[in-house]
Amino acid sequence: MELLVTALRREAEGVLGVELRDPAGAPLPAFVPGAHVDVAFPNGCTRQYSIASSAGDGSRYWLGIGLAPASRGGSRYAHERLRPGDRLQVGAPRALFQLDADAAGHLFIAGGIGITPILSMIRWCIDHQRSWRLLYCVRSRRHAAYLETLAPHAARCRLHADDEQGGPADLHASLRELPAGWHVYCCGPGAMMDAVSAGAGAAGVPAPAVHFERFAPPSAQGEAAEGGEGAGPADGAFEVALARQGGRFTVPAGQSILSVLEGHGLCLPSSCREGLCRSCEVPLLAGRADHRDYVLSEAEREANRSILICVSRAAGGELVLDL
Ligand code: FES
Repeated sequence: MELLVTALRREAEGVLGVELRDPAGAPLPAFVPGAHVDVAFPNGCTRQYSIASSAGDGSRYWLGIGLAPASRGGSRYAHERLRPGDRLQVGAPRALFQLDADAAGHLFIAGGIGITPILSMIRWCIDHQRSWRLLYCVRSRRHAAYLETLAPHAARCRLHADDEQGGPADLHASLRELPAGWHVYCCGPGAMMDAVSAGAGAAGVPAPAVHFERFAPPSAQGEAAEGGEGAGPADGAFEVALARQGGRFTVPAGQSILSVLEGHGLCLPSSCREGLCRSCEVPLLAGRADHRDYVLSEAEREANRSILICVSRAAGGELVLDL
């Protein structure tokens, strides 16, 4: 859909708020708290951004866009060139990071721009009178977005500024104090999410009660590095066969299935190309996948019924795709 940029707001240092509305004032597609949209910029970059506004407000989406230091055109375009009145191609909202409405309570752990999807979750908790707490970690207070929105709920929120506290927050302590039946939601830099994962495991929090939203692969340094083709250094060549269109292709070391198929003229859906968004998922008919994405659950990996072809490879032998 084509949406109009109706307002821009500096939410914090390096965080741009972008308000999008339908040009004719029509209601926007509904979304669930934690959802994101694909935004296609006029410079050809397509990126995913979380919706910070209330899922109950169908008149607009407020996006939070952090300026990625290594940006190759997505967030940099937004911060430097986007103006009110511009029009952007925006995909329908998608939710890979979702609240469990049946949980007894919700502990949110946000790092930097990771507050964006969590803010819409917090708005839902407030609207539905659910128990929640927030640990919001930033490098310094000037990087903390949405503090005015959170101020009325100060008793439930803890802001941790590394430069004031002399280092990162003790995430393990927060997880050890988690009340029974609560779920944990974490969005932030890879190192933070790895620490939350380890801390939750050590505290005995069941894996299904811990939810993550990744903006960048765990190997990416610091805040999100954008773009990239997803093949690791230890990759070997393998074969893929297309069941419906026919054809067998060799995927060499250092190339993804997606790039090989595109090189043979196939036009396939994709967005992040880093195993983060699920837009390139393809049903897998035969063969064992070496899943290298960051979004399939353990059960989905085990079931081996689909594969994200921008990053994942064959565990050996051939893969037969439902294409
Ligand atoms: S393109 Fe995003 S997971 Fe493959």
